[in-house]
Amino acid sequence: MAASADAATRWEIRGARISIDYFVIATLSFACGAAATPWEAGALTGYFYQASVLALVHTFALGWITAAIIGVMYRYVPALTHATLPYPRLLMPQLVLYVVGASGMVSHFALGSWSGIWSAALVVIASVGLFAANIFPPLWPRVGRGVAETGMFLALCFLLIAATLGFLLALDKSYGFLGGSLISNLAAHAHLAAIGWVTLTVCAVSYRMVPALALPRIALPKSAAWQLYAITAGVIGLVVTLLARLPGLALWSVVLALALVAYIVTIARLLWAHRKPVDWSVGHAIAGTAWLMVAITLGITLAFNGAQSELGARVASSYGVAGILGWMGNFIIGVSYYLFPAFVVRVRSLRRWCAMSAVELSRPRPRSAVFVAYNSGLATMVAGLFVANVAICVIATVAIAAGGLLYSGATLWTLTFAYREGQV
Ligand code: HEM
Repeated sequence: MAASADAATRWEIRGARISIDYFVIATLSFACGAAATPWEAGALTGYFYQASVLALVHTFALGWITAAIIGVMYRYVPALTHATLPYPRLLMPQLVLYVVGASGMVSHFALGSWSGIWSAALVVIASVGLFAANIFPPLWPRVGRGVAETGMFLALCFLLIAATLGFLLALDKSYGFLGGSLISNLAAHAHLAAIGWVTLTVCAVSYRMVPALALPRIALPKSAAWQLYAITAGVIGLVVTLLARLPGLALWSVVLALALVAYIVTIARLLWAHRKPVDWSVGHAIAGTAWLMVAITLGITLAFNGAQSELGARVASSYGVAGILGWMGNFIIGVSYYLFPAFVVRVRSLRRWCAMSAVELSRPRPRSAVFVAYNSGLATMVAGLFVANVAICVIATVAIAAGGLLYSGATLWTLTFAYREGQV
């Protein structure tokens, strides 16, 4: 009896620690990506489709953003659905495959080796498959009933499709079987991943988290579920149009833009009606939303004018910076200030280590500098890309790197307390 209770606690600790392991990977990847940006400023000012830029994009997209979301889902899905993960023994192999696959993809992008990229992509797909094996069963009974659960289920489907399409695009460079246009195929993959996977998860989770954390007595409007379905329809429509080279690109872009504006309006109304003090977490959420509006504007511009011209290519680069670093990056930073210390508190209590509060585990001092350096760097970067000026982009990337490294240092300090008993 005592032995089985011990085993149950061991698995509970493992389940709680897996999220922290992912947050460590995410924070280290952000630090590496941020530190590398000044060296990439020249390439970014040139053209978005190049080996080193692809490596940097996936350091942020897979290494940082996707890893952070996986870490949140491992804790959030069982808590939300009141179910346990069905295959806890898969947690460690899934993590190892993820680290091997994602780092393999980034390094082979940097080397320009397509066979290395698709081999590593297969490992990432295997890892995402194991993740889905643990996450789909608790989510499935709630699909269509809970907004957050339905959104996360659909988002994970999009991740699997985006990863498979990414693998096929890389394989196609070795064997040439896909046809179609390189830029349209690339855009289909990028939108499946960035909107279908990341943005849908962010919308779903924030619809649940904002009322739960900030406004416990407020019910979510029914339109929230329809907004998530509209994003799903918009992504499917956009991707099919891009891959099959059908007319209707502008129409699906407008559907997506309206669905995202509906999200911004819903969240803004909830927060406005029940104003809370603006801390740095909320500050990053507001900045992320502002960047989402910039990304929507640039995305609509691209849908109507294309990325083929020199100006179109500059708009596409700015669109990527606003969407990935501005919108998703600010959201991850803001949420991490709330969640990471709370997750560490839970691991410490399961391990029966001396109690430390989330406040004791947080380092608030660098937060203002992180916010200013990161967001002013991004704004300068977008301006530098528009005028294709390398010097402006170098200054901007130094600010982004400074903000990113300050943030990563403080965040890693917090996360270490899930691995050591010591006190502050
Ligand atoms: C899940 C596994 C993933 C795989 C296997 C993968 C694979 C790829 C490949 C092979 C390319 C180049 C395609 C080509 O040259 O035709 C690419 C481009 C791209 N991917 Fe991914 N990717 C993955 C995840 C993601 C995620 C999560 C995001 C964003 C959140 C993302 C965003 C992008 C973007 C924006 C580009 C274009 C970058 C540029 O042109 O500079 N990818 N991906």
